Amino acid sequence: MIEFDPRHRIWLLSTPTMAYALRLDEDGTPRHVHWGRPLTLEQAAAVPPFRDPADSSFEYPRADGAEFPVAGFGPPALQVRFPGGGQEIEWRCDGHTVEGGHLTIRLHDRCRPLAAELHYRVHEDGEVLERWTVLRHTGGDAPLEVLRVDSAAWSVPHLAGYRLSHVTGAWGSEFRLRREALPGGETVLTSRRGVSGHHANPWLMIDDGGAGEEHGEVWSTALAWSGSWRITLHRSPAERLRWSGGFGHDGVTWRLEQGESLETPVFAGLYRPDGFGGTSRSWHAYIARHVLPAGSELRPVVYNSWEATGWAVTEEGQKGLAVLAAEVGAEMFVMDDGWFGARDSDEAGLGDWVPNPGKFPTGLDGLIAEVHRLGMRFGIWVEPEMVNPDSDLYRAHPDWVLHEPDRRRTLLRNQLVLDFGRPEVASWAHDWLDRLVGGHGIDFLKWDMNRALTEVGRPGAGDPGRPWIDHVRGVYEVMDRLRADHPRLRIEACAGGGGRVDLGVLRRTDEAWTSDNTDAADRIAIQHGFGQIYPARTMAAWVTDSPNFLTGRDLPLRFRFHVAMAGVLGVGGDLSRWSAAERGEAAELVALYKEIRPVVQHGVHYRLGEPPLTGVQYVADGRVVVLAWRLSSPFGAPPAPLRLRALDPDARYRDDDTGAVHHGAVLLAHGLPLELPGRSHASVLVRLTRVE
Ligand code: GLA
Repeated sequence: MIEFDPRHRIWLLSTPTMAYALRLDEDGTPRHVHWGRPLTLEQAAAVPPFRDPADSSFEYPRADGAEFPVAGFGPPALQVRFPGGGQEIEWRCDGHTVEGGHLTIRLHDRCRPLAAELHYRVHEDGEVLERWTVLRHTGGDAPLEVLRVDSAAWSVPHLAGYRLSHVTGAWGSEFRLRREALPGGETVLTSRRGVSGHHANPWLMIDDGGAGEEHGEVWSTALAWSGSWRITLHRSPAERLRWSGGFGHDGVTWRLEQGESLETPVFAGLYRPDGFGGTSRSWHAYIARHVLPAGSELRPVVYNSWEATGWAVTEEGQKGLAVLAAEVGAEMFVMDDGWFGARDSDEAGLGDWVPNPGKFPTGLDGLIAEVHRLGMRFGIWVEPEMVNPDSDLYRAHPDWVLHEPDRRRTLLRNQLVLDFGRPEVASWAHDWLDRLVGGHGIDFLKWDMNRALTEVGRPGAGDPGRPWIDHVRGVYEVMDRLRADHPRLRIEACAGGGGRVDLGVLRRTDEAWTSDNTDAADRIAIQHGFGQIYPARTMAAWVTDSPNFLTGRDLPLRFRFHVAMAGVLGVGGDLSRWSAAERGEAAELVALYKEIRPVVQHGVHYRLGEPPLTGVQYVADGRVVVLAWRLSSPFGAPPAPLRLRALDPDARYRDDDTGAVHHGAVLLAHGLPLELPGRSHASVLVRLTRVE
């Protein structure tokens, strides 16, 4: 997987679909050579040197093609202010090590106390290259000021054009896929919110403008970080593209004391020759195998009480919902917000993590025993990073929140952010969570995070940039410890819906709450964007009431189910208001989901069709599941049929429900015949099994 040519001083990292090469030049600077289709070491040595700018005194040849740019006029991957003020860096290479699929290149500055390690890792069973950087202050009393340190910079071969795919959004409308020509100059994708964000997500794809769902070259990168981040793309006047990205946003700097190190998060990248679909499938496989802690496990069908009760939680009410949830086939009953402290609205109680005595006079055990008696596991909502000023915790520890002295403490959703970078705060959070989970045998936490960070300060911390990083690391540490001590515990990542979904949080959680918008028609687009990178097994999707609480839209129960069945199905409606017939239909659909679940959650994912008729296809072990949804379509203009993918053209496939037998070649060429009633909001689930 990793080869080195000492003569040309070239390293080559290979996966089955991709090669990545870099070299060391005469003065010790690592230069980028290649990222794209597979090459041999000999071929990599023949790649022409990267020469970007025209030869003129207004350019800076030393920066050409730098693997980790520290100089020149493009966006730097590293900027350090040395004691006394200088900022120039001149690398010398101390050598490299290769351990399995992990290459480390060690650099130090020629005359200043700065060392860096560039890390590259490929996995035997994957197509993704993981990169990160470690900086170290190697001597002298004065601190180094790190103005920027990215995880990695990426360059693609010279293409005829450059198109950027990424997502934007907001609360209730996350993961809106955008595919747009990349303008000349610099384009910044960033979060300054202290959280990866609803408004953006730290990944991107690049193609030449001609790639499609199943064809064309695509280069893609994704950052494993749940706090503020920044990725700067630079399309140069000479039409070369590179980008650099990492944690922190503009203005967030760090102080490095003597002997101290700073390690960046992983910025992972992959190249696929087979379009956006192939790119998504590679990310899905990587996340399942190398990111998720329990990636090979099937996710349970959750019932969540939030939309049913809001804050009006009572023990009797929860028990009543649990009976109905068990009837429809839920496997995990999750009690949402409102169970603790003085939490009767979003104005009070956050931070006081004891059951509200009026709602649970004898504690949680009665409810949990009932949930277990009904054959379900029990989960509970928590928001450990937050505090309402109207809480006993805040009255006792007003200094525990992120704040700047003499500045206002901005309330968002009536809450402030606890500084998880302070050891006493993280240990307080760990202790109550540990007691809650251990003391009650809790199987599942919905870990929420309902506001962006503002006034990110820690008086006395010295280094103004640290709280931005420390908070995220503190959250990671608490999650990691809980999982290590409670191996059965599973965690759902949530931040007001999909405000914190990234490779960093998925390393310690099992699924993510995709969006607070549970309107199935809106969800089709949200799920489309989510699935560009993140696999179905992480995409929590509930069926809720109709009309929808957020949009007022009325949708058939089957349609709502068929959309949610494309991910980790859950139920989140007020089942006490559903008719017996609706609950009966729901029970049938939940049972059907359990039957297709191994294919949906562990199969290979293909996106089908164009609006108004779209769908997804999952394939595993000769089984095929298609979920298709049609939004309203004009009379007389039937949408194009859904042509299936990845079938054996010579095989036949039997419809498990109707018994009809289809030729693979016909399904590939002419699509799946679908029975879609009416003109709007129709949906269908088709299960096929390969018969010969
Ligand atoms: C956030 C979550 C919701 C719900 C509420 C509770 O908005 O995304 O699902 O848990 O908080 O306050």
